[in-house]
Amino acid sequence: MADTSIVIETSKRVAAAATDSRFVRACLRQQVDRTPVWFLRQAGRYMPEYMTVRKQYSLLDICRTPEIAAEVTITAAERLDVDAAIIFADLLLPFTPMGLDFEFVNGEGPVVHKPIRTREQIEALRTDRADELIYVAKAIEKVRSHFAAPRADGDRLGIIGFIGAPFTLASYMIEGGSSRNYVEMKRLMYSDISAWQLLMEKLNTVLAEYAAQQVQAGADVIQIFDSWAGALAVNDYREFVLPYTRDLVQRVKALGVPVIYFGVDTASLLSTMSETGADVLGLDWRVPLDEGWKLAGDACGVQGNLDPIALFAPHDVLKQRVKDVLDAAANRPGHIFNLGHGIVPGTPVENVIAVSRWVKEMSAR
Ligand code: CP3
Repeated sequence: MADTSIVIETSKRVAAAATDSRFVRACLRQQVDRTPVWFLRQAGRYMPEYMTVRKQYSLLDICRTPEIAAEVTITAAERLDVDAAIIFADLLLPFTPMGLDFEFVNGEGPVVHKPIRTREQIEALRTDRADELIYVAKAIEKVRSHFAAPRADGDRLGIIGFIGAPFTLASYMIEGGSSRNYVEMKRLMYSDISAWQLLMEKLNTVLAEYAAQQVQAGADVIQIFDSWAGALAVNDYREFVLPYTRDLVQRVKALGVPVIYFGVDTASLLSTMSETGADVLGLDWRVPLDEGWKLAGDACGVQGNLDPIALFAPHDVLKQRVKDVLDAAANRPGHIFNLGHGIVPGTPVENVIAVSRWVKEMSAR
C-alpha cells in the first residue's frame, strides 16, 4: 500500500487537476464547459496505427514495454482527439506476479494454463510481488509527461489508469478464459465461501498496490473493470461481490483519485453497484442513460453509453444516437460520454472520430 506521504501528495495533485482537466472535473460532478468524451478500447485492433505496432510485437510485449505502451496510448488519444487517455495494458497482467501463467491466443482471447479449482491453489497465489507490475506505472509517467501541457482550449488531457475488479479477475482465474455460464466460478463461490473470500482478499491486496503505483505515476482517475458482473443475480452480487469491491473502491479513493466502476449487462445491479462508493458508474448501452442514472443515484456520475455497434451505422443514424445519449444526460454535471462497451475490430476509425467531434459540438454549454 501507498505510504501517507504519497497519499497526501496525490490529494494535492488531484485538487490541481480538478481545475485543469474537464474529464476529471466531470468525474467529480463539477461544472464543465462541455461533455468530456473518450472510448472504451480506444487503442485496439480497429485502428491501423495499432495494427502496425501489433504486427511487430505481441500484446504482452506492448503492455510490458513502457515506451511502446505509452506510444500506443498517446497515438489513439491524439487521433481521436478525446479528453482522456487510458493506459494501454490488460486486466490480466497481475496474474503473473500472483504466480498464474496465462497467454493471449490469437482469436481466442486469454488462456490460463492451470485454472484455479481448489483452496490449495488459492493459498499458493502470491501477493508479495505487485512491484513487478511497475512497467505500467512507467508507461503512465511517459503519457503524463507527454500530455503535461494544456491543449489549445486550455484543457489538460486526463490520464486513466485501470485495474480489474476481483470478481471479473476471479472469473478468468477459475474458468481459465472467457466463459458463457461461469459454472466453475459459481460452483466454487457457492460451495466454499471461505476459499472465495480468501481469493477476493488476495486479489484486492495486489490490486490496491497496483492502483497505488499507477496513481503515484500520474493517473488522474482509476477505472475498475467488472466487465462480467452482469452474470450475477443481484442477491448473489450483494453477497459475493459487493463487500470486496466496496473495499477495493474505498482503498483506491483513499489514494486521492476518483474511481469509475464499469460492468456490462448491469441494469439490474446499478443501485447495488453504487453502494461501492464509486464516483462514476459506467453504463452499458442496454439501459437508457437517464434510467441508468436514476438507478445509480444522484450521488454518482455516469459514463456511457452509446452501443459500440452503432459505430457501424450511417452518419445520420449514428449522429442521432449520439444526440439521444446527450439528451438523456441533459448537461447534468457528472456525465462522461463513452460507449457501452469496447470498440470492436472492423469499426471505421472515421466514425469514431466523427462521434468525438459531434459530442464536443452538441454538448457545448
Ligand atoms: O484502449 C484500450 O482500452 C486498450 C487497453 C485495454 C486492453 N485490455 C488491451 C487489449 C484495456 C482497457 C483492456 C481491459 C480488458 N482486458 C478487459 C476489460 C474491458 C472489457 O472489454 O470489458 C478484459 C475483459 C480484458 C481481458 C481480455 N484481453 C480479453 C477478453 C481479450 C480478448 C478479447 C479480444 O478483444 O480479442 C483481451 C485482449 C486485448 N487486450 C486486446 C487489446 C487491445 C485485443 C487483442 C490484441 O491486440 O491482440
